[in-house]
Amino acid sequence: MRAAIVGTGARAQMWAHELRQHGDLVALADTNPARLAAFQRLIAGNRSQPAPAGEAVSGHAAPASWVIAQSADVARMLAAERADVLVVCSPDATHDEHIVAGLDAGAHVITEKPMTTDAAKARRILDAQKRTAGLVTVAFNYRYHPVYAQVKQVLPRIGEISSVHFEWLLDVRHGADYFRRWHRDKAQSGGLLVHKATHHFDLINWWLGTTPEQVSAQGKLFFYGEAGRRHGYDRGYARAHGTAEAVGDPFALSLQDNPAMKALYLDAEEHDGYQRDLNVFAPGVSIEDDLAVLVRYASGATMSYHLTAFSPWEGLRIAFNGSQGRLELDLTESDHVAPGVSGAVKGHSAALHGAEAAAEQGGVSLRLRHFWQPPQDLPVATYEKTGHGGADSRMVAAIFSAASAPTATDGAWALLTGLAANESMRTQRSVRASDLLDLTEWES
Ligand SMILES: NC(=O)c1ccc[n+]([C@@H]2O[C@H](COP(=O)([O-])OP(=O)(O)OC[C@H]3O[C@@H](n4cnc5c(N)ncnc54)[C@H](O)[C@@H]3O)[C@@H](O)[C@H]2O)c1
Repeated sequence: MRAAIVGTGARAQMWAHELRQHGDLVALADTNPARLAAFQRLIAGNRSQPAPAGEAVSGHAAPASWVIAQSADVARMLAAERADVLVVCSPDATHDEHIVAGLDAGAHVITEKPMTTDAAKARRILDAQKRTAGLVTVAFNYRYHPVYAQVKQVLPRIGEISSVHFEWLLDVRHGADYFRRWHRDKAQSGGLLVHKATHHFDLINWWLGTTPEQVSAQGKLFFYGEAGRRHGYDRGYARAHGTAEAVGDPFALSLQDNPAMKALYLDAEEHDGYQRDLNVFAPGVSIEDDLAVLVRYASGATMSYHLTAFSPWEGLRIAFNGSQGRLELDLTESDHVAPGVSGAVKGHSAALHGAEAAAEQGGVSLRLRHFWQPPQDLPVATYEKTGHGGADSRMVAAIFSAASAPTATDGAWALLTGLAANESMRTQRSVRASDLLDLTEWES
C-alpha cells in the first residue's frame, strides 16, 4: 500500500502515524508550504514537536511534499508518486474535489468525516465512485470505540427499538475550538450538525441498522459569536496572539506556547492568512451552538437528539427504548474543564499536561433494564482515555484488513440527517431526507 495524504494539519498527524503500520506513506499535499514543511518535521520520528529544520527524518523515509493549488495537482501527485490510496484531511467543504480527483486517478480514497458538506457534492462523490474502480471509505472512528461497539452487540437484547433519546455535550474547551477557526463558517463545515453530529448520526444508522426519513430541527447561536457577548465573557479582541486582553482568558488559545501549533499555524499564516486562534466571540460565526433535532427512521424508530457546544462537562447520554426493555449509556469524557488547560486543544497531548488535566475525571455506565427485573450494570469494554478511546488505530487496522468499513453510502446517510436538519432550521418545516438526496440510485 502506497498512501498519500492531502491536508496536513491536525488530523493528518494521526493518519501519518497509523498508515505507516500498514504500508508506505509516500506523499503529502497541502495548499500551505510552511504548514507542509512543519508537518514533515513533526512526523519525523513520531515527534510531538517539530524537529529543527534540516534535521534528518528518522524511522521512515520522508514522504514527498506537494504544494497544491487545486485537486488536479492531487491527481498529478498520485500518478507521480505511484500512490494507490489517498487520505483526505483537508477542511470539510474541500473533501469532494479531492475525493473525485483521487477516484479518477485510479486510487482508493479514505476521507475524513464528514464525507462532504452538501447534497450536490455527495452526489458527485457517489457518481465518481460508480464510474471508477475506486472505493470511498469514510473515517467514522466512533464505530471503533470499544464502548460504542459494545452497544451494537447489546442492543438486540432489548428487542425492537422504538425510540432513542440522545444528548451530546461538548465542553467549553472542545466546543469552543469550533468557534476559533474555519468550522465557525457554515460554508466550510456545514455547521455542527454536519461537521460534528455526522459521527452521532452515523452511529444511530449503524446501531439501529436503519436510515433517516424525516427530520425537523431547531437551533441557535446562544453562547459564542456576537450573539454570546451578552453573557459577559467576551474580552473584545479579534484573535489571541499578541493581544493583552487574551492573557488569562479561558477561551483564548495560545499558539505561541505550543511548539507544534506555533509551527503548523502561527508560522504558516503569511501564506494563506489562516488564523487558528480567533476570539470565539468575534464576528463571523455562521454556525449554531445549541441544536435540537427530531428524526423518524425507515425502521419506524424515532430519535430526539440534542447537541450543546458550551457545556461544563463533555460526554454523552443515550437511552434506547425497546420492546423488551431499555438500554442506557452515560459516558463522561471529562467531568469539568480544569482552569489551567481551558484554552488548550482537546486531545493535543502537548497542550494538556500534568495535574490540571489529571484533575478531570471520566467514567462510563452501561445499564440494561428489562421489564420486571432490577437494572443490570454491564461490565464495560475497556478503552483508552486518550486518542478517541483507541478507536483511531482500530479503525485504520480495520480499513486495511478484510473487515468491512463505512462506505460512501454510509457517509451520505449520516450527512443527510444533518443536511435535512439544517434545511429544517432554514425553512422551519419538517424535511424528507430523500427530497435532498435520493440514495436509492446508488444503493441498487
Ligand atoms: N474523526 C475525527 O476524530 C476528526 C478529528 C479532527 C478532524 N477531523 C477531520 O479532519 C479534517 C481536517 O481537520 P483538521 O482539524 O486537521 O483541520 P486543520 O485546519 O488543522 O488542517 C486542514 C489542512 O488542510 C489544508 N487545506 C486547506 N484548504 C485546502 C485545500 N483546498 N486542499 C488541500 N488542503 C487544504 C490546510 O492548509 C491545513 O493544513 C476535517 O475534515 C475534520 O472534520 C476528524
